[in-house]
Formats: sequence, C-alpha cells, structure tokens
Amino acid sequence: MLFADLAGYTNLSARHDPEQVHLLLEQLFETVDDITVAYGGSVNQHPGDAVLALFGAPVAHGDDAERAVAAALAMHEAVRQLRAPDGSPLALHIGIASGVVVAASTGSREHRIYTVTGPSVNLASRLMEIGTAGETLICEAVFKALRKERLRAASRGQVALRGVPEPVSVWSVEAFDGTLPAGTSGTFVGRDVERAQFARIVAVARERRTGGVIYVRGDPGMGKSRLAYELAQQADQAGFTWAAAKVLDFGIRRGHDATQQLVRGSLGLTAASEEERRRDAAQETIASGHVPDEHTALLSQLLDIPLSMEQRRAIDAMEDATRRARRVAVMTALVEATTAAAPVLVVVDDIHWADRETLDAVAALARLTMTRPVVLILTSRIDGDPMPSDWGASLHSIGIMALELGPLMAAESLQLVTNLGLIGPLADECVKRAAGNPLFLEQLVHYADDLQKKAVPPSIQSLVLARLDQLGPDDRVALQAASVLGQCFSLAALRYVLKNGDYGCEPLLRRHLIRHDGEQLMFDHALIRDGVYASMLRSRCQELHKRAAAWFADIDAVLHAEHLDRAGDASAAHALDAAARAEFMSYRAESALDLARRALSRATGAAERCEIACLEGEILSELGYFEEARVAYETACSEAAGDEAARCRARIGLAGALRLADRLDEAHAQLDAAEEAAEGLGLVAELSRLHFLR
Ligand SMILES: Nc1ncnc2c1ncn2[C@@H]1O[C@H](COP(=O)(O)OP(=O)(O)OP(=O)(O)O)[C@@H](O)[C@H]1O
Ligand SMILES: [Mg+2]
Repeated sequence: MLFADLAGYTNLSARHDPEQVHLLLEQLFETVDDITVAYGGSVNQHPGDAVLALFGAPVAHGDDAERAVAAALAMHEAVRQLRAPDGSPLALHIGIASGVVVAASTGSREHRIYTVTGPSVNLASRLMEIGTAGETLICEAVFKALRKERLRAASRGQVALRGVPEPVSVWSVEAFDGTLPAGTSGTFVGRDVERAQFARIVAVARERRTGGVIYVRGDPGMGKSRLAYELAQQADQAGFTWAAAKVLDFGIRRGHDATQQLVRGSLGLTAASEEERRRDAAQETIASGHVPDEHTALLSQLLDIPLSMEQRRAIDAMEDATRRARRVAVMTALVEATTAAAPVLVVVDDIHWADRETLDAVAALARLTMTRPVVLILTSRIDGDPMPSDWGASLHSIGIMALELGPLMAAESLQLVTNLGLIGPLADECVKRAAGNPLFLEQLVHYADDLQKKAVPPSIQSLVLARLDQLGPDDRVALQAASVLGQCFSLAALRYVLKNGDYGCEPLLRRHLIRHDGEQLMFDHALIRDGVYASMLRSRCQELHKRAAAWFADIDAVLHAEHLDRAGDASAAHALDAAARAEFMSYRAESALDLARRALSRATGAAERCEIACLEGEILSELGYFEEARVAYETACSEAAGDEAARCRARIGLAGALRLADRLDEAHAQLDAAEEAAEGLGLVAELSRLHFLR
C-alpha cells in the first residue's frame, strides 16, 4: 500500500483560510487519486490530508510493487505543478510497504468504512512520516520485489520506526522506469536450442533479405523477455539494427504505447531524447519521403512533439479506426525504411496485454517480414495469449516459429543460482522449489533466509494473486480449496470440500493453474499452490481444512489428523495420536514419531499426554534412540500424576529403555515400583510384561 501526504500541511492550514485549504485538498486528492487509478490501484481512504492507496487489492496484477512505485513518481511530478494559495510549490511525502492485510468493511452499526488492517499499513504510514518533501520511501519487501534494472534507489540503512518492533531496512527511490527491459543483469544460462534456431533465421534474413516471426510463449517468469533480449544481442552482433517495444499493462503514459516506442526506436530515438532532436528527426523523415507529407501531424504526435491547433484539429477529426490504421502505417513505413541500411530486429514484449492498435501494428510487421529482412520477436504469457483469437487466425498465411518456453533444466537452474551467489543446501532447496522457473529462482535466492519458513516471496505472491483475480468466483474458491488439499489432490476430494458435486476444473486446467497427473490433479507449480494458500484468511483456511479432515476420516488416518491439526480443531491431538499408532503398526516409525510429537504438543489432558509420551518412548526405543526414549518415559511418569495405572505403564517403559542403555540397577528400581502398583491394581498385562523384562 501507498501512503501519501502533503509536506508542510500543518503550516499551510494555519496560514490560509480553511476554505482555500479545503479547495487545495480537493485538487490534491483528485490528482493523486487519478494517478492511483491510472496505475491500476484503488483509493482506500483520505485520512486528514493523506491518501491511502492500495495496489494489488481488490485486484492484483502481478506487478503491483512496480505499479505503486511508478505511481508514486507520477504523483510527485503532478503535485509539483500544483500551487498553494500563496503561489508556493507543493510536494508530497510518500511511503510504500507491502505485506498481508485484511481488507474489509469495519466499524460499528453507526459508522462503517472499508479499511485495510495489518502491520504493513502502519509501516507505510511511518515511512511516509520520516520522508522528506518529494521523497518516496519503500520497505525491504517492496525493494526486493522490484526488478533492479529498472530502479535507482539509495539505502537509508536500518531505521527504527514507531510501532514497528524491529528496525527495518528502508530505501529512498531516486528513479524507476517500468519500460526498461527487466532482468538482464545475471549471466544467461541454457536455451541453446532456441538460440540455434534463431541463428538460422538471422542467417536467412541476411542472405535472402526476408525475415521471420518468432513467437515466444510461456508462463510468467519463464524467461521470455530475457530470451528476447539475448536474441536481440545476438542479432546486434550479426549487424542488425533493432527496435523494441514493451506493452504495458498499466498507466497508459504518454509516449509509452507500443507504436510510439517502435517509431522512436526506428528513428534511433529514446524516451529521453530532447524535443529538438525529435523535431529534427521528424523533419528528416518527411524530407526523405519515407512518410508522406499528409502524415506530418501524426508523426509529430507519435514523437510527442507539441501540435499546432490546426494539426490537433485534423487528428481529432479522424475516426478512431482511421487514426489507428495511419499510426500503424507510419510505424511500418519507418521500419521498412530502416531495412535499406541493415536487417532489422523488432521485439514486442508482452503482447498478452496488447490493445487493438498494438495488435494491428504487430500484424503489419508480421506481414512485412515476408518481403523485407525484418525479424519480429513476440513474447506472450499463456494467460491472455492473443494467438487463439481471430487476430491469430488472420496471421495464418505467415510462417510463425513458435517457441514454447519450458522450465530450465536442474543443472541450468543450479548454475543460475550459483551465479547469484548462493551455494550449498540452500541453493539445492531453491532449485527444487522453483522447478525451473528463472523468476522464481531469482526471487527465492533473494528470500533464501526465509526459505526454511516456506514463505512465498511477495513478487511471486503477487503474480499468483493476479492469476487468481482473473478467475470467476467459483473457480477462485475451488483453487483455494485445492490448495488446502495440497500439491496433489483428487477431483472427488475437491468436490467434497467445495460441497459441490458437479464442479469441473476446466477453467483451472485451461489456464495452466493445475494439470492432470494420472488419476489425480496437480498444481502446475508448487509455488502457485503456496501462493494461493497464503492468499486466504486464517479462518477460511481452517474451515476448509476441517472439511478436508472430514473427507479423509475413513480414508487416511494421517491426512485426517494433519487437516484437523491445521484446522486448529480440539480433536487434533487425539487424531494425531491415532495416526501415530497406525503408522507405527505399519512399520513407519519415523512418520509415527513426528505425529506422536505433534500430538504431544497439542494434547492438554494429563492422562492423554502420559499415553502419548509412552508411545513416543516406544517409538524411540524401536528406532534405537534409547536416551531420548528414557526422557520420553520420564515425561510420561511425571504427566501420570495421580493415575497409578498410567504411571505403572510409564515405569515399565522406562525400565525397558534403561535396560537397553545398560543401566540395570535403575531399571530394576523402576520395575520394583511398577510391580507394587500393578499387583495392587490387579493389572495382568502389565505384570506379565514386567516379568518378561526381569
Ligand atoms: N536463461 C536465463 N538465464 C539467466 N537468467 C534468466 C534466464 N531466463 C530468465 N532469467 C531471469 O529471470 C527473470 C525472469 O525472466 P523474464 O523477465 O524474462 O520472464 P518473463 O517470462 O518475461 O516473465 P513475465 O511473464 O513476467 O514477463 C529475469 O530476471 C531474467 O533475467
Ligand atoms: Mg517478460
């Protein structure tokens, strides 16, 4: 979440008339709220002169940290243009933090509002408080979630904040550019086949002067953009010129749409080029005849050159479709013109977010590859892939080489992790959990300290939430229920937990969230399961675990107990104890031991605790851990309290453990005490066990 407030507000409100201050605040809120919405966030509250904006709730996008930071910088810029009643400039303090929050309607019957609660709300507000005017401070989780190539930030070190238990790492954002290619820093690994195929297309483009289209498709984080970037380097070395566009899914900022990026790229300009350079480039283009005179206004608009009144009117008078078609024609003409000097590579990244105009632009470029040495690389996530639509069908006559990007191999993953500086068992753990997804690998390395806790790095969590948000309500609930059942589950179990006997998983399968695994269903990626699981409130989780426990009651004692345990149910200790006994009977002593120990930690009654401790002692003796067995039996003796029969059994166990540890005198002493009790109480079975031991 993002907290922003006006620097020097107290001073301002003391010096000016309340009505003027009120008007100013209105203006401020309007500016900040508009930007929040443009970047896909939502405005939660306006406490005093502050704004609390949420990114990732109620709708997650998968890159919510980036959105929040980009929005913050846009807010600073917009507010700089505003003026206080006395003409002095205004500035904001902004704090951004991320973490799990409960977003809900809260209050009393008289007054209810929609709020968010959680430690990160406080953190964001404290960061806002300590910032200077015009500054954006972010917490560690946000810093880690941002792709470093796009960010320039200065560390503020460890800072102690009011109401936050431990000092936290704080960064001050200096610059952020969401259009820069992310993730090009680490050493590139693998993808040899793809690079070899690309090399062939490059060779053909140079010889025959025609190009080709490469369509890179894969799950989020699989390395599509990185591969495109590496291929662009390869083309660069082969003497190509190249232009790249990244389709943005948020904040349609001026100068950032794909057609504009490609126009700039083909003229050798960047987003940072001065207006004068842009004007010169436009003039040269028109003079060279590559773009006809009548498109001067459109070219100027594409290059963000201020338009004359007349030009603006001419553009406004065009129909939407005409304007779109002409913009695309200008772009294509420029790319075509560039091919006179050298073959051209054009990259359009993330076309799953493409709007109509961008899709038109891509189709026009794809057609150009048939007659000109233009190689077009497109990347798309599977979710939202436009290929299966009419648009894709319209490209059928163009040869498209599809590269389905799969996971990296284990050795490549390990290489990637090692390159990032992680070695040893933690590196192996990362490789195992990421299952070949490079983004997950990188994120897990950044979160290596939390690996043991099985925490899901926030950036992965955000991606998972975005995919959840794209589902209909039934499928979302189903995926959450499935996450409670585990990485692998049966359709029957899922239907039972959902209380919906007809539920079919097609949308989940179609969106590659789950897949078939023999008779069972399985999450496509373990981290997706973890992320979905972590997206639920505790109470909801417990409710679903309880249903799952009921499903397994007659099927599997261990799973029944595990689910009751996670449901926080009062009968969990009893079920864990029963499961431990069942496992022990089936010669699975290790698993039995784990269950018994958990049972002991949950059990509250003395008699129950004594019984379970005896079981633990028995299992430990079986496993050959006599010293630990003795300790367990001693616990059992002390738990037995007034229950003589229980104590008698614990003593017999203890004697057995002492005997195996060769402490025979102590063993005899325990047997003597047990015998007296057993005779007094007439415990036949205990007596015979006792005599056997003697
Ligand atoms: N083969 C590779 N070798 C080294 N690093 C890689 C490789 N592939 C990807 N990466 C790194 O993994 C991260 C994620 O990759 P990338 O951004 O290319 O994924 P993506 O498929 O484009 O994801 P998205 O769907 O979110 O756009 C990046 O930081 C990238 O540098
Ligand atoms: Mg990408």
